[in-house]
Amino acid sequence: MENPKYYRNKLVYPVGIDENGDISMGVFASRSHRIININNCQIQNEKSQKIANEIFEFAKKNCISGYNEKDMSGLLRHIIVRIGIKTNEIMVTIVVNKFDIPYEKELIREITINNPEVKAIVKNLNNKNTNVILGKENKVIYGEGYIYDYLGDKRFKISPMSFYQVNPIQTEKLYKKAVEYACLTGNETIFDLYCGIGTIGIFASDKAKKLIGIETVSAAINDARENAKLNNIENAEFIVGNVEEELPELIIKRDIRADVVFLDPPRKGCDRTAIDTLLKIEPKKIVYISCNPATLARDLKLFDEKYDLKHISICDMFPGTGHVECCSVLYLKN
Ligand SMILES: C[S@@+](CC[C@H](N)C(=O)[O-])C[C@H]1O[C@@H](n2cnc3c(N)ncnc32)[C@H](O)[C@@H]1O
Repeated sequence: MENPKYYRNKLVYPVGIDENGDISMGVFASRSHRIININNCQIQNEKSQKIANEIFEFAKKNCISGYNEKDMSGLLRHIIVRIGIKTNEIMVTIVVNKFDIPYEKELIREITINNPEVKAIVKNLNNKNTNVILGKENKVIYGEGYIYDYLGDKRFKISPMSFYQVNPIQTEKLYKKAVEYACLTGNETIFDLYCGIGTIGIFASDKAKKLIGIETVSAAINDARENAKLNNIENAEFIVGNVEEELPELIIKRDIRADVVFLDPPRKGCDRTAIDTLLKIEPKKIVYISCNPATLARDLKLFDEKYDLKHISICDMFPGTGHVECCSVLYLKN
């Protein structure tokens, strides 16, 4: 990445208490839940950092408590700030242990007066004893509850529960590589599996006859459907559900097959059933994108039975960390 700093469009800071019982906000120390206070992280967007700092200072000033994992007391669990790098629109999600935030109106006023780019503030309720950051329930307390961003010339709606790549500058490069690997002619049916808000498929859709996306988070599928409309794409369909269950359904019940499949699973890689189904339906090409080289290697070995790994490249998606994104393309043998 040419400018490998301040690149993240999503800041996620845990809020807790320190050894003196004072509220703290920052990052977890490696392999622990001890919070290291941080007010300037060199990979976070600077505006997002500023907003997180302001919320933290507001909480301190007004004695709003940080979450205590030991006895599940305290209010604030996480502060999440997402920014559309191209649109400058910002969405703040405050993860709380219960919905009542003291001085909530004042907090909203302070955030929005200081930062007119803020288009949405959402409260997310998480009162479970869990490492999962977001709970299931959201309350929009300012704006419409979502923001937009652009990747290439395509516009995307992003809501609080939806996945969106954290480094949009590098994401454009990654998606261009994926589309280049797919060598689409305009006559192909493409599947975008683990599609999130539909970004890869929509990015590739100008060169495809039909696009079908599958994703487990229903809010993300709602975004994907809207994103297709936003970009005047009529040849797209998005299905909510697990790839391992929905993919066989598509084939058995509807007899729909893909010429090219884009795979972009979470870090744990693809489910074995999903790989077995793809081995059965034999798409000509599989473009496999992964943020975890270990599970990518494991899965590529399973595809080896019927596919040749033709190209693989890495994308510097997470500078300053030990992580890397990979993009690979497999060709059906013979
Ligand atoms: C690495 S993200 C990729 C999203 C999208 N392709 C993008 O580039 O923004 C992986 C996505 O897979 C979804 N997911 C996780 N497990 C799934 C499953 N079993 N079936 C379908 N989607 C799943 C997650 O919710 C997440 O949106």
